[in-house]
Formats: sequence, structure tokens, C-alpha cells
Amino acid sequence: MKFFIDTANLAQIKEAQDLGVLDGVTTNPSLMAKEGIKGEGAILKHYVDICNIVTGDVSAEVIATDFDGMVREGEALAELHERIVVKIPMIKEGVKAIKYFSEKGIKTNCTLVFSAGQALLAAKAGATYVSPFIGRLDDVSTDGLKLIEDIRIIYDNFGYETQILAASVRHPMHIIECAKIGADVATCPLSAITALLKHPLTDSGLAQFLADAKK
Ligand code: G3P
Repeated sequence: MKFFIDTANLAQIKEAQDLGVLDGVTTNPSLMAKEGIKGEGAILKHYVDICNIVTGDVSAEVIATDFDGMVREGEALAELHERIVVKIPMIKEGVKAIKYFSEKGIKTNCTLVFSAGQALLAAKAGATYVSPFIGRLDDVSTDGLKLIEDIRIIYDNFGYETQILAASVRHPMHIIECAKIGADVATCPLSAITALLKHPLTDSGLAQFLADAKK
């Protein structure tokens, strides 16, 4: 399973890249705002800065909600760097835009997906990635991981090549369950990735080994 980091914070992206396990980055307008990145020029530069840190795909989201606007913004984003993936919301105009980009060979990530039907539409339109938001489903008492299972079954039934990118991942158990189900990618906060490292028996075992090594 690929690990993407879900942030626009350059220091965190670099830390995950330096760990040697990072396969890509996802951003969204909220994550860009959180870093204080404002204005079209600054936003486009920030995407290039991210691409220069990582070696994998970097999702950059369009703001427009009409087909022409999404195409205009998406083409500008795709021209920034070969690793940019155009992130498009799961709305009617978005499905059309995904189809358009798919036919042009431009990678897309269909975002804000909360149902299997939406994921099926994204795959039929030719999305490179589909982003089901599992944490936000859990937040409203709906099983986010069950959605990943359903999408996996549907995509495998028909051989859709769209990659399931589990998003809105909140904690390490989300990552482990996504890996068991067979999600292609999990995009996670840095804290969830580094939490995978931790086990008290590792810490106590290492302390014992180091103490014994001195004997
Ligand atoms: O990239 C979108 C998604 O991962 C958002 O996560 O934590 O805001 O629900 P969250």
C-alpha cells in the first residue's frame, strides 16, 4: 500500500520523505489555508515547492465548480509539474472534467467521495485515484472502512484501474485496516504514520538490549 501525506506543511512533507516511506502528497484548500498560503501565485509556487521535495504524485485541488473553470484550472495545475494530479470534487461537472482529463492523459483524484455509487462513477469517468473520506464518515456514525471494502469489491469485479486512496485517515488503525482491505493508497497526517512506529515492548526491549550490551 502506498503512503501519501495529507498536508501542505513543507516541514512535515520533508520529514515523511526523509523517513523513506513516502509515495506522494495530497492537499486541499483547507490544508493550504492552514499553512497561510494565499493568492494564486503563492499557491501555485507552493505546489511546485512540494513537488521538489517528493518523488511521487502530488494532488492539487481545483476551486472552480463548473466544467470550463475546472478544465482551465486543472490544465494550469497540470502544467506546473509532471507529478501534479488534478484533484476534482465528486459533483456532476466534476465527473465531466475527470472524463475530459482522463482522455487527455492528465491524472486526476476524485475527492469528497462518501458512497460506493460515487466511487463507481469516478472509475467509469477514468479517475486515476478516488478519495473516500473515511474519518468524516466515522464522524457521522457511518463505517468509513466498510466503504473502502465495498469500493474494493466493485473495482475488482470489473477490473477498474482507479486507485482507492483512503482519505480523512485519522489514526494508525485506519491505516492498518485499509492495508488489510486492500486500499491502494492511504493519505495520512504525519502523526498517524509515525504512530505506526510505536510499541512499548520495542522501547523496553531496546532499553534492555542496550543495558545488556554494556555488560
Ligand atoms: O484530503 C482530504 C481529507 O483527507 C480530509 O481529511 O481530516 O479533514 O477529514 P479530514
